[in-house]
Amino acid sequence: MKTFKIRELEINPALVLSPMSGVTTSAFRRLIKRNNPGCVGLTVSEFVSVEAITRGVKRTFEMMKFRSEERPYGVQIFGADPKRMADAAQIVEELGVDLVDINCGCPAPKVVKKGGGCELMRNPDLLKEIFTGVRNAIKIPLTMKMRTGWDESSKNFLEVAKLAEDCGVEAITIHGRTRAQSYRGEADWSFFDKVLSSVSIPVCGSGDVVSKESAISKFNSGVSGLYIGRGALSNPFIFSEIIGRSIRKAPEQLLLEYIALLREDFQDSACIGKVKQLASQFAKGTLWRKQVLLEMELSRIEELLQSKEVYVTY
Ligand SMILES: Cc1cc2nc3c(=O)[nH]c(=O)nc-3n(C[C@H](O)[C@H](O)[C@H](O)COP(=O)(O)O)c2cc1C
Repeated sequence: MKTFKIRELEINPALVLSPMSGVTTSAFRRLIKRNNPGCVGLTVSEFVSVEAITRGVKRTFEMMKFRSEERPYGVQIFGADPKRMADAAQIVEELGVDLVDINCGCPAPKVVKKGGGCELMRNPDLLKEIFTGVRNAIKIPLTMKMRTGWDESSKNFLEVAKLAEDCGVEAITIHGRTRAQSYRGEADWSFFDKVLSSVSIPVCGSGDVVSKESAISKFNSGVSGLYIGRGALSNPFIFSEIIGRSIRKAPEQLLLEYIALLREDFQDSACIGKVKQLASQFAKGTLWRKQVLLEMELSRIEELLQSKEVYVTY
């Protein structure tokens, strides 16, 4: 299996649990790591606002919390103010994480309207200031994640990739869609050769890795590593399946594990949506999925899942 290095940090295997807002909490990251032992090379937090970090918002610090089993682990920050970006990165570094990632790909109106996420790709001068400021503020590796561009007529991933490398960013991830595409259509993986011949830092790809077959075909684009997002929700064993070492469990067993992990960090009322999110994707085809999705209490969902026969297949 492929591996790559971000400075001295070894990403082994070259499979990354992609950041997903509202999904990749510490509980989800641990669920995925525990159920794919040795098969997840890097985990990344949900994106975290630099405004909230620098203002010391308690909930935001809870979002960045991690356990050592999640390592190597990076925190992804978003924002547009260079000073706040640098200050926030420094605070993140002090938490003891392995890397800081800058979000340059979020398409959400509430983020881009304030100049952050994918909007940064339209503002190379500001981006340069941010990359340089953050680079100077921290010692640990710095990475960035972007889309191919704002829309079809402004795909500037090559220019942004070179800018990032020149400013000291040490690895790049590109989600093969524009901001205008949001999550529609198929992700484009055809352009990576252009990026790979233009920069010498690792370049990872993101978008539609949903199976061993798709992982193999996407590695053929020449990328250093694959980021896996929604594929981990629909199949939480995807990392080990790609490597060929899968231990599959019944959905009810995995969901019960997830509930226990979530309860370490959240009140029941905050867990329920996350449990349903995983159930809606991963429990397709079960007789009880609909019942779980209709339940209003976590303890009832737990009872329901416990009443099912649990089995493990190797
Ligand atoms: C619910 C959801 C939340 C996401 N949140 C983030 C985020 O916080 N930061 C980020 O860089 N990408 C985020 N993404 C994008 C994913 O990391 C990934 O690049 C994209 O979904 C394509 O990969 P996939 O097909 O493997 O999901 C999010 C995607 C989804 C579906």
